[in-house]
Parts: sequence; structure tokens; C-alpha cells
Amino acid sequence: MIQAPPLSLAFDQNSVLQITGKARLSGSVKISGAKNSALAIMAGALLCADHCRLTNVPSLLDIERMSQVLTSLGIKITKTGHTLEIETQNLQQYDAPYDLVSQLRASFFIIGPLLTRLGIARIPLPGGCAIGARPVDLHVRGLQSMGADVHIEHGVVHAYVKGKGNRLKGTRIYLDYPSVGATETLMMAATLADGETTLENAAQEPEVIDLANFCRAMGARIKGAGTNTISIDGVKSLHAVEYEIIPDRIEAGTFLVAGAITQSAITLSPVIPEHLTAVIAKLEAMGAKIISTEHQSLSIIPGDLYPIDIETMPYPGFPTDMQAQFMALLSIVPGNSIISETVFENRLHHVAELNRMGANIRLKGNHAFISGVPQLSGAPVMATDLRASAALVLAGLAAEGTTTMQGLHHLDRGYDHLEGKLRSLGANIHRITEFQ
Ligand code: UD1
Repeated sequence: MIQAPPLSLAFDQNSVLQITGKARLSGSVKISGAKNSALAIMAGALLCADHCRLTNVPSLLDIERMSQVLTSLGIKITKTGHTLEIETQNLQQYDAPYDLVSQLRASFFIIGPLLTRLGIARIPLPGGCAIGARPVDLHVRGLQSMGADVHIEHGVVHAYVKGKGNRLKGTRIYLDYPSVGATETLMMAATLADGETTLENAAQEPEVIDLANFCRAMGARIKGAGTNTISIDGVKSLHAVEYEIIPDRIEAGTFLVAGAITQSAITLSPVIPEHLTAVIAKLEAMGAKIISTEHQSLSIIPGDLYPIDIETMPYPGFPTDMQAQFMALLSIVPGNSIISETVFENRLHHVAELNRMGANIRLKGNHAFISGVPQLSGAPVMATDLRASAALVLAGLAAEGTTTMQGLHHLDRGYDHLEGKLRSLGANIHRITEFQ
């Protein structure tokens, strides 16, 4: 096994975020590249035995971890600012290390590219995580129907392709659920398969389209990405490419909520407003005004806000990755709101922490019944997962007094310098190194 380099972004266990609420925000903020696109595209880069340059890559712990996974397989990765050079000529290893895969579910997505390049892959099961069990059965079944021999032994997924040229075979695959990861894994695997693959009930998320566009730029033949039926006509090889990652719609949504929760007018760019249709619709239904000011830019002008009900759904429905942030917002909107989480079975840990800050939220199964309170109050809180950490920061911005948040490694997984960006808008938020 090739030794992975140490993380350059600190795994920050010694710091807390201190947020003193009630500051009014104003101005513009720059939205970084999309985490979930970048992670899938980094896996996709393994498909070509050449050199890919990715631009607009966000600076995140998850990106660093994915880089470590790829490095452990023999890939050379160089990061300069927001550009990532990925040299895949020396791909030698087919077994990904458990300690890395267990920390980053997206690293499992390399199974498709590894199988197509080497005819073999051994990837540990990503295991449970804070937001639910998250199995990989759809990835596995899809690869099996493309002719791979896949079995799970001692917690490791072993996959092989037998036969001529080690190529997977194109086929028709119906996904029981439009899983983002399974759609991405199978789409990548199909790019170099023998014949045509059709993915039905495929995920339609913008990050799936971004991955498809990246693969197309390398020479793949993919049609229908962004609809529920994707067809991929396998080619023999893919070539080097330079590709720019789309803006992060979840980071953008989080800043829209920051404007709403602090009753502040702020502008974000670059954004692709169509990627935020469900989020914008909910903010407008609450009474906020959202203006698409110029190309790739959005402004929020909050007013009196009203309660609403939200149900998370696969795209183009309301994103589960924005559920926690809206929970923080609705906790101070007068009246009763209901949020139902349907995508992940265990993604409501932030409720207890918001209640510690004075929110009035009752949980029943996957439903959160929120009675808006006039005021949240700052408190010590613990981030339990990535989006929960964003929700607690948002709650802290609105609360009376000071909130101290622990568990910053969750925030650093998916937000590129969130506190710096919020500070530039006028927020009173600081990272403090407490315990050495
Ligand atoms: C991706 C995103 C994550 C987002 C999620 C849903 C990345 C790196 N992460 O995660 O931020 O919250 O989409 O929009 O892109 N499932 C199965 N079997 C499978 C695969 C999934 O049962 O083989 C279930 C999961 O447990 C979950 C649901 O399907 O309940 C959705 O998961 P999926 O769409 O696969 O999410 P991820 O790709 O893991």
C-alpha cells in the first residue's frame, strides 16, 4: 500500500467556534465549488489513464481525504489553490484503506472506475454514519448486473470482472431508489463498458449532471443526465481534460438561510439559480424575497417570515442537505411548521442541540414539529454531522448571546472557510483554539 500524505487541512479537534448573535449581515459572498461534484469527479478522474485538471475545487477536509484515498492507490495529486492536478497513469492498487474509506462515504464511489481500469477492486464497506445506515446494495447490484462478480467478505466489497478484456457489459439497470452515489458509480462504470447501459430511476441531482459533463469532456458518451433515465454508450478509453466544478448549491442555500435568519439582505455568487429552485420556493413561501440580480448571482431580502411545511425528497425535491438549516430558521418563525425527513432515517440529531438553544421542536419518527419561539439563546452546542453543524452556526447568528460550538471537523468536511465568509458579511464569529 502506498502511504497517503498527511492532511494539510487540520483535523480540528482542539477548536470551538464562538458566535455572538444578533449582528446584522450585509454585502456579497463568494460561493465555492460543489463538494459533492468535486468528490464524484475526483473518483471519475480514475477512468482515464492520463492527467486531469480540476478547477474551482473547494478547500475541504472531504477533498483532502479523497485525495488521500486516491494517493493510496498510486495516483499523483497536486493542489494549487482551487486547482487539482490528478495524474492517474500509475494507478496500481485496487484496495482502498479502511481507515480512509470509513471516514468518507464518497470514497466508495471509486469502485466503478477501479473495476473498469483494473478489472478488480477491493473497497471496505463505508459502514454506518451519523445520519443513517447508508447501505451500498444498489451500487453492488448494479455492478453485478453489468457482469461483475461482487461479494462482501469480512466487511470488504470484493469486485472482479472476468472475461475478455476485463470489460463490464452494458445492460439495463432499474434503481429501486434514485440514489446519487449508485447513479454516479454505475454511470462511471458504464462509460468504459462493452455496449450500452441504461440507468432507470436514476438520480437527477446537479452533481450527477456535473459528473456526466466531466465524463463527456473526457470522451464518454452519456445522454439523459439530469433526467431519470441515463444512457451510456461504452467507449474503449477516455482522454485527459481540464474541467471546472459547478458552484455548491448547498453552500449557497446555507447563505440564503443566513440572510433570512439574521433579517439581512445579502448577495451570493456564483450560483446556478435553477439548482436552488426548491430552496428558493420555500424561502419565498415563507415571505422572503429572492432576486436573481445578474448572471449567476442571487440576493435575499428577508421580510416578515411565516411557517411552512417541508418534506425532503430526491432532486428536484427539497434537498435533505438543507433540512437542518431550515430547521434552525423555522425555529424562530412565529407559528407551527413541520419538517419531514424522508431521505435518511437518522438525520435529526440537531433537534436536541437547537432545543438547548431555546427552540421548541418535538420529534415523532422522522417528523419534526416546530413551534416558533421569539428568541433563541446562545449555548454550548455540539455539531453531530456536517449539515447539523451549519444549522447550529445559523442558530448562533440569530441567538441572543454567545454560542460555542464543538465538533468543528464536521463543519470543515463541507464548508470552505464558512466563518471567514460570514465574518466578511459582518458576523461575529471566531474559531478559538481551546484545548491543546
Ligand atoms: C449523496 C450526497 C449527500 C446527500 C445525498 C442525498 C455525496 C458525496 N453525498 O449521498 O450529501 O445527502 O446524496 O441527496 O454526493 N441507499 C440505499 N442503498 C444504496 C445507496 C443508497 O439504500 O446502495 C439509501 C441511503 O441509505 C439513503 C438514500 O438511499 O437513505 C439516499 O442515499 P444516496 O442518494 O445514495 O446518498 P449518497 O450518494 O450517499
